Formats: sequence, structure tokens, C-alpha cells
Amino acid sequence: MVTADQVVRPQFSGRYIEVIAHRGCSGSYPENTLPAFQAAKESGATMIELDVTLTQDRKLIVIHDETLDRTTSGRGEVGSWKFRELRKLDAGSWFDPAFRGVRLPALSQVLRLYCNHSMHVNIEIKPECLDEHLQPDGIEYQVVHEIDRFYLRDRVIVSSFGWKILERISAIDSSLRTALLYEGNLKQIKLKKLSKKYKMFSFNPFWGKLYPDFVRRAHDLGLKVFPYTVNSWQEMAFSLCAGVDGAFTNYPNRFLQAIRDLDTLGGEAGNSTD
Ligand code: G3P
Repeated sequence: MVTADQVVRPQFSGRYIEVIAHRGCSGSYPENTLPAFQAAKESGATMIELDVTLTQDRKLIVIHDETLDRTTSGRGEVGSWKFRELRKLDAGSWFDPAFRGVRLPALSQVLRLYCNHSMHVNIEIKPECLDEHLQPDGIEYQVVHEIDRFYLRDRVIVSSFGWKILERISAIDSSLRTALLYEGNLKQIKLKKLSKKYKMFSFNPFWGKLYPDFVRRAHDLGLKVFPYTVNSWQEMAFSLCAGVDGAFTNYPNRFLQAIRDLDTLGGEAGNSTD
């Protein structure tokens, strides 16, 4: 029997697909906040994605941008504020006045939501908090500590555009799953070399650079492919037909519907895009 705490992974063309709620259900709630993550839990998404960075006093805070200006009532760089002060900011009103008073969460608050749930969690570490050398209070050790504190080791993927960060995560614990984020041209990428160097579980490209042969190459190397960020029906259809294993979306419900609709139509038809 399936309970509310169990995730049902949808299938497309016989493959399981991860429906990844990008910054939570960020199309309908203020991104990277507890309401957005709570909504993701209830949406049928199979994984959530969040962004984590360091405060001035080297604590973990969940926010996407390097600065506070777009998504909070604060101004300036996140890294120049103390955790206690950041927690007083309004991170909801910018999205809708109905979310006034919603705070920036600590990583531990988000992870606590998922420790008794079967959803997977993608923690994206922002590259701007990379120290010159691995530090005992650096973001890499702190994130690994939080993953273990909430017993999420088997359900977490750590990703970053800062690949050095992933190298360090693997050095701390080679059993943790990592994912490389990549925005550039996939034709130039040396996938085999990278997959060995970073011991990665998945490769997460910008969906607009994706093509079916790339996905096949990644699969041949044992890698999953999760493109970001697919929000329109066309982007979802294109990615599914290219053979991906899941995708980041601000609208998990739309993606679930697209998977059902396209699977009914016969997913293999779309593979003719090569
Ligand atoms: O992790 C997928 C996606 O979140 C990467 O882009 O800019 O949202 O961090 P960005």
C-alpha cells in the first residue's frame, strides 16, 4: 500500500522519471522557502532542489542568489550578513503579499521536512562560498554533517556549478552522490573524463543545450541526466523525448501531467528528434 510518505515515481516510455521541484514549487510559492518545500512534498514531485550558501558567520542558509535584493527585504551580498540578521528578513512579499513574513530557511529546517519521507533531495552548493582550501567549517563539511544528521545519505544528491566543491564532497565521503551542473555547449564536454574525476551520479545540463545523442553517451557511462529548468509543455516534451531520467521544474504538477499525456501518446515517437 502506498502511503502519503511514499513517493510514486512516474514512468515515461518504460523508464522512471524524477520530477524535481526546482527551489521547491517555485512557480506558485516564493522560491527556496518552507511553503515552497511543503508544497513540493504534497505535489507528487519525487525530489526537491534547494540552494545553499554560507552566511558571514559561516552558517548554512537556503537562498539562490548571491545577493538579497531580488527575493528578500534585505540588500547586498548574502555573505556579508550574519545568520541571525538574515533570519529576520521577509523572503515572501516579493513573490506575493500573501507570503509576507516568510523567512529564509536554514538547511536543517528544510531537511527536517524530508527525513521521514521518501522524497529525494538535491542540495545545490553555490560556488561563491568556495574557500581557497577545504576548511573544517567550510560549506562542504557542514553540508555532509547535515545530511548525516537527518539520515538522508541514501536520498541526497549534492550538485554545483563549482566542480571543485564536488571534488571536495567526494573527498570527504566518496559514497555521496554528486551531480555536475553545466550551462554550456554539450558537444565540447569530455564526459568520460569528467565522470571519472568527479565520481558523479548525474549530469545536469541546461535543457536548451540537450540532444538525444548526448543523453545516450551519458547513459553509456552509467550517468543519469537531469536537465534544468523545464517549465513549458514544449520544454518538458523535448526533454522527455531526448531520453532524460528526470528534470527540474518550477511546476511539478504540470510535469507530472506532461509525463502522463506523452506516455499515453507513445513516448518513443519523440525519439525521432535525433
Ligand atoms: O540545479 C538545477 C538548477 O537549479 C541550476 O540552475 O540557476 O537554478 O541554480 P540555478
